[in-house]
Amino acid sequence: EEMKNMEGMDNKDNSMENGHASHNNPLALNNSTGENELALPPIIEPKNGIVDITAQQGTTEILKGTKTETYGYNGSFLGPVIRIHKDQTVTFRTKNALSEPTTFHWHGLEIPGNGDGGPHQVLEPGVTEDVNFTVNQGASTLWFHPHPEGATAEQVYKGLAGLIYIDDENSQKINLPNEYGVNDFPLVFQDRQFTEEKQLNYQAVLNEDGTIGDTLLINGTVNPKLTVGKEKIRLRLLNGSNARNYTFKLNNGATFQQIATDGGFLNQPTDMKEITLTPGERAEVIVDFSKMDDKTDIALINEEGITLLPFKIEQKAASTSNIAQKLNDFGVTEEEKTLPVTKKLELFGMGTMVSINGSQFDMNRIDFTQKQGDTEIWEIYNKPDMMGGMTHPFHIHGTQFKIVSIDGKEPPLNLKGWKDTVSVEAGQTVKLAVKFNNKGIYMFHCHVLEHEENGMMGQVEVK
Ligand code: C2O
Ligand code: CU
Repeated sequence: EEMKNMEGMDNKDNSMENGHASHNNPLALNNSTGENELALPPIIEPKNGIVDITAQQGTTEILKGTKTETYGYNGSFLGPVIRIHKDQTVTFRTKNALSEPTTFHWHGLEIPGNGDGGPHQVLEPGVTEDVNFTVNQGASTLWFHPHPEGATAEQVYKGLAGLIYIDDENSQKINLPNEYGVNDFPLVFQDRQFTEEKQLNYQAVLNEDGTIGDTLLINGTVNPKLTVGKEKIRLRLLNGSNARNYTFKLNNGATFQQIATDGGFLNQPTDMKEITLTPGERAEVIVDFSKMDDKTDIALINEEGITLLPFKIEQKAASTSNIAQKLNDFGVTEEEKTLPVTKKLELFGMGTMVSINGSQFDMNRIDFTQKQGDTEIWEIYNKPDMMGGMTHPFHIHGTQFKIVSIDGKEPPLNLKGWKDTVSVEAGQTVKLAVKFNNKGIYMFHCHVLEHEENGMMGQVEVK
């Protein structure tokens, strides 16, 4: 009897080693056939200052020969890239054409709280609402997705996600690939688990510790390939998955350059052999295909060596220009380095028991207040549990923050840039310099969407 118990314990321990078992489901090996040219989302710009964005439902042929019921913005699946410019005054004319409530949240956008699209700003079916604001931040790749309480994870899973590109004077002047769909490509990574009926039935596959799937979609394309010229190519990576982390590498081991974090350019292109993105995070990279032999197969792979995106290199006249070496002047100031910690957050638990500072989300409770324009140091501690714990991607709405330190050390070069989501590993303590330029109530939460649904979220009121 005693032995049996011990064995039971042992098994459990093994399966939970290195974090939680639910995250070890690898992507299927058949994800790499490169059968389909990567879909490019339509790119839209304000007309007379207005961008129409409609959340709608439909069916999409994601897998050949079958129709899957999906959600999308301005289409049946996923959404467009909305291209806006710093200092531009914009109206997002949002419409809910779904048969359930939703919200429109602009992830990474510094926007007054009443336009942020958190769980307080629900649009009932059939309702249209204008969100007016002036773009007040630098060039960056942001995204948007729904945020209604209790249905965020499911609505994102069904296809509600789009991108926002902000341009500014600097980004238009410096030398970087910027021709959309030619040498500048969005890559939205999402894993899905199709049911036998080839549907995206969220409730059927829901995992309280993070829903993952064995099928990778990039921009909604299964088995994608990307045809590129023999030139420098800019890839804007978004981890738009509910829970899966990706460590991106090239299969030939080549170095690429990271040029941007979530909210803007790094100061200079930074050589990388791999980049890890947790849910919600973005990175922009430059891959130099002019140096690559077009007879070998180049592909983006993950940490398990599974091909995510094979590249087909085309021989065509392409520019060979050098990319700019000075991209931004970001920095953590001496003052920010010495400011005392004024907000402490402890992330803890798993599944339905996740919490921040011991409590779970309550719409009617304001957890913190902060003054508009003040910089405060937030200390985020990911407290390990009996099984070790897991990484939580910590996101704050309505701001781009700076990482001051990770476990007391300066962040690596490629995290020295504006961020709105930071990966906090089990046992880690991350210090952030956080400033809100607008007033209102903003969410902060774990971007594993099931953790967020389960209450790993709080509210800060900026006054
Ligand atoms: Cu990307 Cu609270 O969201
Ligand atoms: Cu989490």
